[in-house]
Amino acid sequence: MSDDGALEPVEELTPLEASAEWAALADKIAVHDKAYYQKDAPEISDADYDSLRRRLQALEAAFPELARPDSPTQKVGAAPAAGFSKVPHAVPMLSLGNAFDDADVDEFVKGVRRFLKLADDEPVELVCEPKIDGLSVSLRYENGKFVQGATRGDGTTGEDITENLKTLSELPININDAPDVLEVRGEVYMTRSDFGKLNQAQEKADAKVFANPRNAAAGSLRQKDASVTASRSLRLFAYAWGEVSGPVAETHWDFLTKLRGWGFPTNPLARLARTTDEGLAFYNEIEAGRAALDYEIDGMVYKVNRLDWQQRLGAVSRAPRWAIAHKFAAEKAETVLNEITIQIGRTGTLTPVANLEPVTVGGVVVSRATLHNEDEIARKDVRKGDTVIIQRAGDVIPQVVSVVLEKRPKNSKAFSFPDTCPECGSLAVRDDGEVARRCTGGLICPAQKLERLKHFVSRNAFDIEGLGVKHIKAFSEDGLIKTPADIFRLESDHAEAIAGRDGWGQQSADNLFAALRDRSTISLDRFIFALGIRQVGQAMARLLAKQYGSLSGWRAQMDAAQDREGEAFADLTNIDGIGPLVADDLLAFCAEDHNRDVLDDLENLLTVEDFKAPDMGASPVAGKTVVFTGSLESLSRGEAKAKAESLGAKVAGSVSKKTDYVVVGAEAGSKAKKAAELGVATLSEDEWLALIG
Ligand code: IVH
Repeated sequence: MSDDGALEPVEELTPLEASAEWAALADKIAVHDKAYYQKDAPEISDADYDSLRRRLQALEAAFPELARPDSPTQKVGAAPAAGFSKVPHAVPMLSLGNAFDDADVDEFVKGVRRFLKLADDEPVELVCEPKIDGLSVSLRYENGKFVQGATRGDGTTGEDITENLKTLSELPININDAPDVLEVRGEVYMTRSDFGKLNQAQEKADAKVFANPRNAAAGSLRQKDASVTASRSLRLFAYAWGEVSGPVAETHWDFLTKLRGWGFPTNPLARLARTTDEGLAFYNEIEAGRAALDYEIDGMVYKVNRLDWQQRLGAVSRAPRWAIAHKFAAEKAETVLNEITIQIGRTGTLTPVANLEPVTVGGVVVSRATLHNEDEIARKDVRKGDTVIIQRAGDVIPQVVSVVLEKRPKNSKAFSFPDTCPECGSLAVRDDGEVARRCTGGLICPAQKLERLKHFVSRNAFDIEGLGVKHIKAFSEDGLIKTPADIFRLESDHAEAIAGRDGWGQQSADNLFAALRDRSTISLDRFIFALGIRQVGQAMARLLAKQYGSLSGWRAQMDAAQDREGEAFADLTNIDGIGPLVADDLLAFCAEDHNRDVLDDLENLLTVEDFKAPDMGASPVAGKTVVFTGSLESLSRGEAKAKAESLGAKVAGSVSKKTDYVVVGAEAGSKAKKAAELGVATLSEDEWLALIG
């Protein structure tokens, strides 16, 4: 019904005709609303849907008696937002650090020993579990009843998929003898055999086939219509917990037993290793038997068995110090390299990319792989037309490992790396000691501009639903967005233009605007991360947010530090984790006029929330700056620092007037002296421990 012209003008209809047409239209719209909102499978284009609604409006305008309160026209904007509702995780869902060989695992255990200051003969037991290649979920039970299930999302906030999870036959709905509040975490996955069956059925029905079991599990779980999830065979392995109202066990091994007692499936291959060597031997065993398993695993997870130790070890940025994933060797494949192209990153880095004859590696079709940088291409002598070996390890970007020289075409030529930016023609320079060549075009380079915008809306930054890479690209090509702030002006400046675009329509546009309004309040750390400053990742952005507290505070201090010698500069470089190179990039960013304009603009449009320190209760050291010096008796420097930070203190590397306490251990040197000179309070280790209780 896209052809409005074929319809009678409404004025020429009799009331009876109008009423009949109205009823038919209302039904049709209801059907499409359901397809769109509940099945996530629209059957008509947005434009066609819009013309249905417009016709309905025209009818109601001409025959006001038709405009009843339950008319679809009355529901504009009140339709449920696309997607699932958000669930904040009371305890973040962490990811895991990776180990790629035995030495990495060894180093992990040594790190645990150092952190806990363990004697050399103290055993560190490890629980070894296969790393399931599925989707992690959090399952919340209150008074023994399953009340909510969520995806991991960004680790802090997930999506509510309770109804979908209820359809898993392995998920217990009621459990006995559990703490009042219990969040169980685990992996939802699909077996290889069920995956095969599902794809056969999909093919037969001319429906989408899935690339691998993981994608199939993800696609099946995130269904708006839970009956679709119910029709797919999804399974569960439980392996961790989130929020709990009481202690769960003394060791992870006992916790696994508890889980089974409550009715959760746990992985039958899990094993308790008394030494690192036992763990490594077990890893080899599992890798050898991997192909015979009916589900995909991509490594082994080692977890420190003692939960009191886990508690002390805590987490660093997004990964626990008490667990690590030992990845299986990457899968390899041979294919032909058709072309080497250059990709420009957000900060101007030229990255060479191998465009490949598509090939399946570990269940995924790969057509592009990274060649890292100029030196790597030269070292491997990778050329256009070469047959190459590529590898793909888990979620890591596929890479070119080597060239099959015997298959090299006769007339091939070595690749010459460009010294100008292929996108904007600016000079591409390589600084001393750097492997990367960088486009000097800054924001005149369209590629850099686009990459910054993509980063700005990405998941860990503004995370704007409905504004994917494709849209960012199209909008910036058409001049709708030039700077990040323009994104938040799309509604005020381009509402009609967007609704009228190919593939859009009023509904999609409204959804986007709603998402933008929703995201116009943002936390300071996300905001800083979103700016895409060189070397400022999530962890760094959090450090800055914590240190400076507010957007205005941060900006003022960055301005004050531009002299690169005064107090503000000392404060910046004093933040543990921020070295002189990062400080340099930060200050350069903040000094550039264009960036200042963008910051001013964003500050006007958005609400950037002050950094909220996690609630420390009445911690006596919250907000205080502490310096540790000398060696401590009862705990390692690492644990001392982690503990102080968990109580809301800032730990700095050197003493200044802003330092509140210097904790002096044995054989302390110049820092203790400096504290005395500046009149900063010094504490012995015992005094410090007494202070923090
Ligand atoms: S423990 C705090 N155990 O791996 C640690 N994770 O790369 C929480 N995964 O997001 C994770 N099998 O989705 C753990 N036996 C296992 C696992 C496992 C698979 C996934 C999980 C996590 C990811 C981290």
